[in-house]
Amino acid sequence: MAGPRPRVAIVGAGPAGAFAASALRRCAGDVEIDLLERLPTPWGLLRGGVAPDHQDIKRLQDTFDRQTLRHGCRFLGNVEVGVDISHAELMRHYAAVIYATGAQTDKSLGIAGEDLPGSWAATEFVAWYNGHPDYRDLQFDLSAKRVVVIGNGNVAADVIRMLTLSPRALERTDIADHALEALRASAVEEVVVLGRRGPAQAAFTSAELRELGHLEGVDLRVRAEELELDPVSQDWLADHGTFTARTNVELLREFAARAPREGAARRIELRFLRSPVQIRGSGRVEAVDIRRNEIVRADDGALRARAVDEPVEPIACGLVLRSVGYRAVPLPDVPFDERSFVLPNERGRVLTPDGAPLPGVYAVGWIKRGPTGILGTNKRDAEETVACLADDLATAALTPPASPDRAQIDALLAERVPDVVTVEGWRAIDGLERERGRDGQRPRVKLASRGELLSAAAATASSAAS
Ligand SMILES: Cc1cc2nc3c(=O)[nH]c(=O)nc-3n(C[C@H](O)[C@H](O)[C@H](O)COP(=O)(O)OP(=O)(O)OC[C@H]3O[C@@H](n4cnc5c(N)ncnc54)[C@H](O)[C@@H]3O)c2cc1C
Ligand SMILES: NC(=O)c1ccc[n+]([C@@H]2O[C@H](COP(=O)([O-])OP(=O)(O)OC[C@H]3O[C@@H](n4cnc5c(N)ncnc54)[C@H](OP(=O)(O)O)[C@@H]3O)[C@@H](O)[C@H]2O)c1
Repeated sequence: MAGPRPRVAIVGAGPAGAFAASALRRCAGDVEIDLLERLPTPWGLLRGGVAPDHQDIKRLQDTFDRQTLRHGCRFLGNVEVGVDISHAELMRHYAAVIYATGAQTDKSLGIAGEDLPGSWAATEFVAWYNGHPDYRDLQFDLSAKRVVVIGNGNVAADVIRMLTLSPRALERTDIADHALEALRASAVEEVVVLGRRGPAQAAFTSAELRELGHLEGVDLRVRAEELELDPVSQDWLADHGTFTARTNVELLREFAARAPREGAARRIELRFLRSPVQIRGSGRVEAVDIRRNEIVRADDGALRARAVDEPVEPIACGLVLRSVGYRAVPLPDVPFDERSFVLPNERGRVLTPDGAPLPGVYAVGWIKRGPTGILGTNKRDAEETVACLADDLATAALTPPASPDRAQIDALLAERVPDVVTVEGWRAIDGLERERGRDGQRPRVKLASRGELLSAAAATASSAAS
């Protein structure tokens, strides 16, 4: 595209948005990049998802900072695309828009009792303990002795650790203060985890599963009879089983063979081939009825769980966390695939309903490929999208925007969102949080309400102006 430097908007400053900005810097030449983010803080699930006891992973924020905000990308926080500014308006101001909005809600189970008080999506629990401002006021009742977690992926592993680790193990982390206080008073002694398929199909990665078996003061139990592989799983593991699946099965066998840890304050029980049928209780969760499944090979070759016609088994509990996956939500006026819950796309180029590329519109991360994959997966994924965008810029395939000047978008945003958080505002939040953490030898103490975050950001803006 001839003329001034093309300007690209990235919507969502999570890992995928950060990787996309960094890739754009490297391979799309001289472009201006704005990261628009609905929260006052950047880094998406790296800040609001990754568990507080995994601080080494959170350090990726320093790399993101160096490769984006310290490398000429602008941060425009507290701006929600689709609410504060429309897709059409973005297209008037930018040569290209990359959607990196992740998966903002949870997948539902569709069983009776799912909405009873005491039944929560793991997405909510995770956001609450990580200090996401929209979830700060949730009240989790941790007075019951037994919790049931549905699903056995890595998010389930995170919430299981948060429920069973001693408060001592969490008090040097960046867990939100309100969550630390509630977990200190927790009466939870046992977490029962339901995997609908067998041990060979558990969705945990092996490092996360191994960690569950070695938590201080926690006994991990697995029933040997639930580890016996059915013939379908045995064949699958022998012929096509991944390294992770084989390692997981070995680890689970080791755990099942261990003697119970005497005197452990808390206990995790991993159940397999068990699905919830309904969540019960009068006025709030009192039990989950589960049924046994068997593994069958479906027509598409996938191994699925099929209910066995047997009486249900009740598990009494006071809290249920449904950890069965995240789900993306549509953005107004942007195509959305209602079956796969992603922006329909080819290698990151967003497609119209008739399958043609929508010029200038791209997707990265969980909104592009669905809610799976670790942080690093988003790097390769962003590189694919950015390669398409760079090609489209180089071949002049993009229509120049009607209002390309930075001043015009800044004026529009200032009118719509008086408290846009810029990079200086974010640095003020970051500085204050780190400072608050210093005395307690914590990486940071999070400001967990939008009000606190915005006043911290504004304090610097006004001191810079005076
Ligand atoms: C609980 C949990 C723990 C995890 N732990 C690990 C881990 O330990 N290690 C690991 O490798 N991977 C981990 N992952 C996976 C990793 O977090 C994801 O792969 C990654 O965050 C996906 O990046 P994303 O940018 O697509 O989505 P997100 O991280 O969700 O970022 C999306 C961003 O877009 C913003 N946004 C949404 N809508 C709008 C809008 N309309 N306007 C403006 N902004 C918007 C959101 O506020 C958010 O900041 C974890 C995932 C979860 C759910
Ligand atoms: N430490 C880390 O690296 C880390 C931490 C957290 C998250 N992550 C990543 O983030 C991504 C999302 O994690 P996730 O745990 O949300 O998703 P996930 O890995 O897809 O696990 C979802 C779990 O829910 C189960 N499930 C789905 N629908 C169900 C239903 N209707 N009934 C019962 N069970 C059901 C799945 O079983 P089936 O397998 O039978 O479908 C699976 O056990 C993953 O790629 C994960 O690796 C990584």
